[in-house]
Amino acid sequence: MDTTIQNVTAREILDSRGNPTLKAEVTLESGAKGEFSVPSGASTGIYEAIELRDGDLARYNGKGVLTAVENVKNRIADKLVGMDALRQSEIDNTMIALDGTKNKSKLGANAILGVSFAVCRAAATSQNRKLYNYLNSLLSTFLDRIENQPLSLPTPLFNILNGGAHADNTLSIQEFMTIPIGVERFSEQLRAGTEIDHELKRILKERGATTSVGDEGGFAPNLPTDETALEFLSEAVEASAFKLESEIVFGLDVAASQYWEEDDKVYAIPNISEEKVLVDKPQKVSNFYIDLLNRFPIRLIEDPLAEDDWAGWKDLAKKFDFKEKILVGDDLTVTNPQRVERAAKEKIINGLIIKPNQIGTLTEVFEVIKICNAYNIKKIVSHRSGETTDTFIADLAVACGAEFIKDGAPIRGERVAKYNRLLEIEEELQVSTP
Ligand code: PGA
Ligand code: ZN
Repeated sequence: MDTTIQNVTAREILDSRGNPTLKAEVTLESGAKGEFSVPSGASTGIYEAIELRDGDLARYNGKGVLTAVENVKNRIADKLVGMDALRQSEIDNTMIALDGTKNKSKLGANAILGVSFAVCRAAATSQNRKLYNYLNSLLSTFLDRIENQPLSLPTPLFNILNGGAHADNTLSIQEFMTIPIGVERFSEQLRAGTEIDHELKRILKERGATTSVGDEGGFAPNLPTDETALEFLSEAVEASAFKLESEIVFGLDVAASQYWEEDDKVYAIPNISEEKVLVDKPQKVSNFYIDLLNRFPIRLIEDPLAEDDWAGWKDLAKKFDFKEKILVGDDLTVTNPQRVERAAKEKIINGLIIKPNQIGTLTEVFEVIKICNAYNIKKIVSHRSGETTDTFIADLAVACGAEFIKDGAPIRGERVAKYNRLLEIEEELQVSTP
């Protein structure tokens, strides 16, 4: 089987928000092919690798990706054609060197990630292996493991109420998630998440709230406060066949960077509680969160503080119950090995969002996984708010033994595609979640 790369190409396609994104395709001499469609964030961290957009206002409001497509077809293809697709790290490092910038701004992280993952898929196909199996072997080699990392199904985080930058409603917290922490087996967890989602829809309808959805498929109603949203969520769980707290807990993604006011060094979060607006210094804000976490069955909180507020994170970490709960970095850490390592050393997180397009290559994603394993940080492989029907992250989550996957509500095609892929993998593996 000749695994030499014969062709590398790309095209502009649309994501779930109707914005252009890049799809890469790699063909090997054997005829094996691999492709990957790159997702795109809305509440992006400022330290993420750069998603290259054309800026030509005559097309898609400047959001076209034709420059990134050309970079794949010319500059990247020129270097990679003739290389061995089985040598993933070499391929990734070649693209990193060709780009030459710290944040992949020259070729675009969208161009580089598209090719990195498409190469991996082509290689898996050439070996006649399932993607998660092939990824698992690659990762085990990367980690210098004698035996392969164990495979496992992740527990899903269902973002069933959307606010913040993901919806045009009154909610400030970007994501309200249900977590079927006490339900065994992925397929049952999916059923739990979906049935609770349907209960929530019914409750919203009964109260005259809208049941239209936000970018990740969660409902986006106008509710008096974010705390009301948590009450609705509790009601939805209680109306379902699943038990609140023992089987279902909640997670929140505040995406707090958007509420940080640099001039006054305060957070200004509208509508979060009965006081209607929380404008306070980081220390007071962390007290607010600790109280909120105690009043509702919230097991996980993501980005409660801003991406540069390391002191605020430290303050919250001092008060946080790391044994019982999970404090998660996303915009803070942006899947960047240096930032993840810093957060790990400062002991301010015990959960990490892994979004491949925040960093740009599979090899760097592996580096981040290595740091998580070394510091006992829970891995949460994640989609972006702008997605396609690509299911790569489902295989990645299984391959690295991620404790969780974040993939939105189970009611939009681009989200459901990944959940359905996990159902398929569960059947193939016949294993239960850890
Ligand atoms: P994004 O949001 O994909 O719009 O960045 C997801 C998140 O913040 O977790
Ligand atoms: Zn986030």
